[in-house]
Amino acid sequence: MFQLLCHLVFAVVMPGDRCDAQGHTDSSGLRVGSCCSGLSAELLALEMLRVSFVSCVACEIDHKLLNLNHAMHGHCNVFSDCCTEEFLASPSCDLFVAGFPCQPFSKAGNNHGILDPRGHVIFWILRWLWLHKPLCFILENVGNFAQQHKETLDMIISILTVMNIYHVEWKVLENSAVGWLPQHRERIFICGVRKASLLRPFVWPGDVAMLPLRNYFKENIQHQEELGMDSLNNTEKNNVQKLAANVAKQGWILGHEEYVCDISGSVPHAMWGVSPCLTVTRAGSSGHWLSWLERKMTTREILSLQGISLERVGDYWHHMSERQLRRAAGNAVPVPLLARVIKMVLIACGKVH
Ligand SMILES: *[C@@H]1O[C@H](CO)[C@@H](O)[C@H](O)[C@H]1NC(C)=O
Repeated sequence: MFQLLCHLVFAVVMPGDRCDAQGHTDSSGLRVGSCCSGLSAELLALEMLRVSFVSCVACEIDHKLLNLNHAMHGHCNVFSDCCTEEFLASPSCDLFVAGFPCQPFSKAGNNHGILDPRGHVIFWILRWLWLHKPLCFILENVGNFAQQHKETLDMIISILTVMNIYHVEWKVLENSAVGWLPQHRERIFICGVRKASLLRPFVWPGDVAMLPLRNYFKENIQHQEELGMDSLNNTEKNNVQKLAANVAKQGWILGHEEYVCDISGSVPHAMWGVSPCLTVTRAGSSGHWLSWLERKMTTREILSLQGISLERVGDYWHHMSERQLRRAAGNAVPVPLLARVIKMVLIACGKVH
């Protein structure tokens, strides 16, 4: 299996065959590329870090999302499918970021790993890296990748090691510990910096104090009734009651405490002072139940728990539904967390001081 994959990733390319045909080497700023781009959290992160950049390549298979993303960021080149020769022939860049599909590796998805067709995307990405050899890269996926799909992770690391170009490290980071935002969300980051360009040792970002949950939620919103108790289906209503009963057993009142409750599944689950993970499905169905406000989350609040401001998305999302926008947010990597990882990678290769 490993040899077969190596064969696919490293298949010989004739010089001049592809790569850099339309490279943007003359422009100033960091040249950035991505695939499985979503809302391009890496570009929002670079805006946050105030690093000047040019987006050379973006690739997103969801057409509505690609249109939104392109309107927000104005990429030099956009592609719709990264599992194509066309994408492999895209221009190159300095920093390449790919949050490859997480559904095959997620407990919330089917967990079929590389047996799922979407699980193959990573091998196209590895091939892209081999052909383009960017200065540095970040691959990102769910935390479960390091647990239930450890063999695939080992295989990816082995292939990157065989390339013998990159210093590679991986780590699972918890968003609420490292990324400022009060949302529980574990993500694996695989970072690589070209060995020849490694000016300083690569260090992972450390823990920071999580920002208070209350900063992210307003007491009074418009359309409270659309998110309140009357908007819930029977499963959700029952789940709120179950949680209220559990909390009452411990001598507390659910509505008086800052519990964020995942009530849309068969088994409810509440966290105090921090939001459970906003998966694509949960984000789509207006997130979690805020016990002290007795309602679910607004689209603005869901985006803000991922570090994305609705103002930055602007009016560009008019071709998709609000639900689709929330799902896109649920698919994203939290921007401040990614910003901290990007910063460490750029420090290691001397692009940021
Ligand atoms: C209740 O609503 C949630 C969120 O939209 C959904 O996930 C769940 O399947 C619904 N349950 C039923 C029984 O309709």
